[in-house]
Amino acid sequence: MTLEKTIVESTAPGKVILFGEHAVVYGIPAIACAIDKRSSCQITSDPHLGDQFALELINYNQIFHLGLDFEEGGELESFRGVTQFIQYFHEQFHLPLSGVKISLNSELPPAMGLGSSASILAALAGALNSFFDLGLNLSELNMNIFAGEKIYHQTPSGIDNSLCVYGGIQCFHEGHLSVLKMPDIGDLVVINSGIPRQTGKMVKRVREYKQEHPFDFQRIMDSIKAIVISAKSALNAGARGAFGRAMFENHRFLQELTVSHPRLDHIVDLCKREDALGAKLTGGGGGGCAIALCDPSRTKSLVETLREEGFTSFRTRVADQGLLGGIPHE
Ligand code: PMV
Repeated sequence: MTLEKTIVESTAPGKVILFGEHAVVYGIPAIACAIDKRSSCQITSDPHLGDQFALELINYNQIFHLGLDFEEGGELESFRGVTQFIQYFHEQFHLPLSGVKISLNSELPPAMGLGSSASILAALAGALNSFFDLGLNLSELNMNIFAGEKIYHQTPSGIDNSLCVYGGIQCFHEGHLSVLKMPDIGDLVVINSGIPRQTGKMVKRVREYKQEHPFDFQRIMDSIKAIVISAKSALNAGARGAFGRAMFENHRFLQELTVSHPRLDHIVDLCKREDALGAKLTGGGGGGCAIALCDPSRTKSLVETLREEGFTSFRTRVADQGLLGGIPHE
């Protein structure tokens, strides 16, 4: 392999779960979408690096120099997932990394359930694929990014990497995904509860709930399944109102499953008061983020009300583009 290219750039979106979190662990379909906040990876060749390669983390204003033993130690420890993923790629594809600078950036806040790690790994994988002419197609890239996600999180469901790679709105059912029709459903507002999300703890809590209340658990699963089915038809029909109502309903059952948090419930109430079409917690719960669906004419006032109540939020839209780029500029 020769380094004829000097720069490649690749980007990938984050994601939110729209319906069916937690229930998806028990075989119920879930619906998730990519959002238009992205991570990016740029790779350049820099002969000054000699035998080493550089990893620049633009968000953290840090740059590390590493040898092919991948040893740096110190502060890089907190970014182990990224270096382990580069190492994984290096071992799989024998990358001539010496003299290469990898720069990563992301618009996604970490650890909020917005798929920031999968989005970063997807951008990184896309850029490595292009820079080193690995010839991987999207499906092969997706498999490798999933392997990288397993380094970050022991048992990822595969939702995050698939959304980051393929984009759009997708339905997940027992490990399989199908891309859904994507009418303009309006604005999505992602709202930070200010409480760290606790996916692992909440998954365990749901397991305990199932043991302690088997009949209620089954009723809730059946209800969430019905909600997911009606949300899919609403999406097909472009019926925003019905789609939004399904979000409020899904939140109610997540509350019953005990994975919400008073601040998430407060956010959902505020959204209802502000005439949002729908709102619910998204992802693991116990904290983390809520999402609201809004007619674009109401978004500004919703974001303002949330701000007055002490919540940071941002407006986003469904990103129909997944992994992009890796096209050489020179
Ligand atoms: O918190 P997130 O975005 O990683 O979502 C977790 C979704 C769960 O259904 C709770 C767990 C899973 O693996 O699907």
